[in-house]
Amino acid sequence: MGIPTPTFQDTLSDTPVSFPALLNSGTTGEFTGQSIQALQHAASHLARVSSPSTGATADELKPAIEAVDLSTPLSSLDETLSELSQLYLHDAIYFHDPKYAAHLNCPVLIPAVAAESLVTSINTSMDTFDQSAGATLIERKLIDFSAELIGFAPAEADGIFTSGGTQSNLQAMLIARNRAAGRLAGSFPERLSKLRIYCSEDAHFSIRNAAMLLGLGTEAAIAIKTDDLHRMDAKALQLQLETDMAAGLVPMAISATAGTTDFGAIDPLIELRQISDQVGAWLHVDAAYGCGLLISHIHKERLEGIELADSVTLDFHKSFFQPIGSSALVVRHADSFQSIAHYSEYLNPRDQAAQSTNQVDKSLQTTRRFDALKLWVSLRTLGVKELGSMFDQVISLAQMAEREIAVRDELFLVAPVQLSTLVFGYSLPADTYPQHEANAFINLIRKRLHASGEAMIAATTVNGQRLLKLTLLNPNTTLSDISQILDAICRVGRAILDEQNTGANL
Ligand SMILES: Cc1ncc(COP(=O)(O)O)c(C=O)c1O
Repeated sequence: MGIPTPTFQDTLSDTPVSFPALLNSGTTGEFTGQSIQALQHAASHLARVSSPSTGATADELKPAIEAVDLSTPLSSLDETLSELSQLYLHDAIYFHDPKYAAHLNCPVLIPAVAAESLVTSINTSMDTFDQSAGATLIERKLIDFSAELIGFAPAEADGIFTSGGTQSNLQAMLIARNRAAGRLAGSFPERLSKLRIYCSEDAHFSIRNAAMLLGLGTEAAIAIKTDDLHRMDAKALQLQLETDMAAGLVPMAISATAGTTDFGAIDPLIELRQISDQVGAWLHVDAAYGCGLLISHIHKERLEGIELADSVTLDFHKSFFQPIGSSALVVRHADSFQSIAHYSEYLNPRDQAAQSTNQVDKSLQTTRRFDALKLWVSLRTLGVKELGSMFDQVISLAQMAEREIAVRDELFLVAPVQLSTLVFGYSLPADTYPQHEANAFINLIRKRLHASGEAMIAATTVNGQRLLKLTLLNPNTTLSDISQILDAICRVGRAILDEQNTGANL
């Protein structure tokens, strides 16, 4: 029969009602019990993980998830968790496993995960001080800390936590767009049509998407060619700027990358600052990946020039070992946020803006999680030195892995390691394998390796050539783990070649 559905009349009765599933001062016992239950459930899965994935496909996972009747609840959290074991946890992708070397995902710090419980149980919203109190001040102090790491003067700088690098980059481009458009005459659409963003051909796609979202069109993001280390070629940028400016176009921003997604390349920041000054463009540095260098004990100087930027993207959920999401956009001058500030009578009235401690004035989001707390708890519990040592370790690991690739005849590296990624090919007899077949061969290696669940690696395409990629962000991964991943790649590659030679159906 179940619980009878109340009528509207029932809800108007004077009898006190209670919804005990809501978290409040009277339900902390239940809250603690259920939270521990969920944590223990996660822990029991984590303890059993011995490979990054089971290799389950969407087709294999879909039927059980489709079969769930969401309008009929189970009878307890226990049952829900058991069901989730089958639907999700058993076949989840485990980034902390040492054989996970695919995308820019890191294992997470335990104090940061513990902080997640605080974030969600208090459920602070960061938009206004009257919803956040100390949380706003904690976020602001972390922004000052980040500004100092970058080399900005904290008293002049400002910033905001965002959901990720994509949002941080979008917000930087929005600020740059408003600045450039504000200097032009004509209707707003006319002004936008003249604006151009310059980034390297290896820049993250979020810069091109930002151009589209900001009404400029993706073609307004000009991809500048890179040198042999995949860094933006400053000479090529200068030539492009000359041509474009002669045609009446306006360079709104130069978006440098400090740690490109594939090669970890760092664009020539000092030169790009000089060029930005010559043409009046905003200089943004996307350090979503490379921000770990800011806390490195050994490699910090590689980011020389970042302190000259107008804005910087930092992804703590990549290189500071934070759970998703944890990112920030930091600007050199606090007043850069003025052009995006919006005021609403119900939330942050304009007449109170002067004394405002409302973070919403600077954010693209309204309701916003207190994601900054995870970084705070990590820094207060472990210290920044420990995080820096972890990032240094993944760089060392990548350098050692480079040698592991060099000693395998089947594999060849396409560019020296710069941060913690390795991009490499599989040697095939060139004349017997036209490009499209060689590319299909690389995709097949990756697919087979994933299906086996043994390891997870990435792939990318450079100048039409499909290549394999390892992204190392786990300081607990050993050289022996890397060696096993590379052996598995060679083994799978040889097996495919054998099948092809014997005419087996692939
Ligand atoms: C260089 C770079 N910038 C920005 C991003 C986007 O960051 P997010 O995935 O946090 O939105 C990435 C993602 O890999 C990246 O590599």
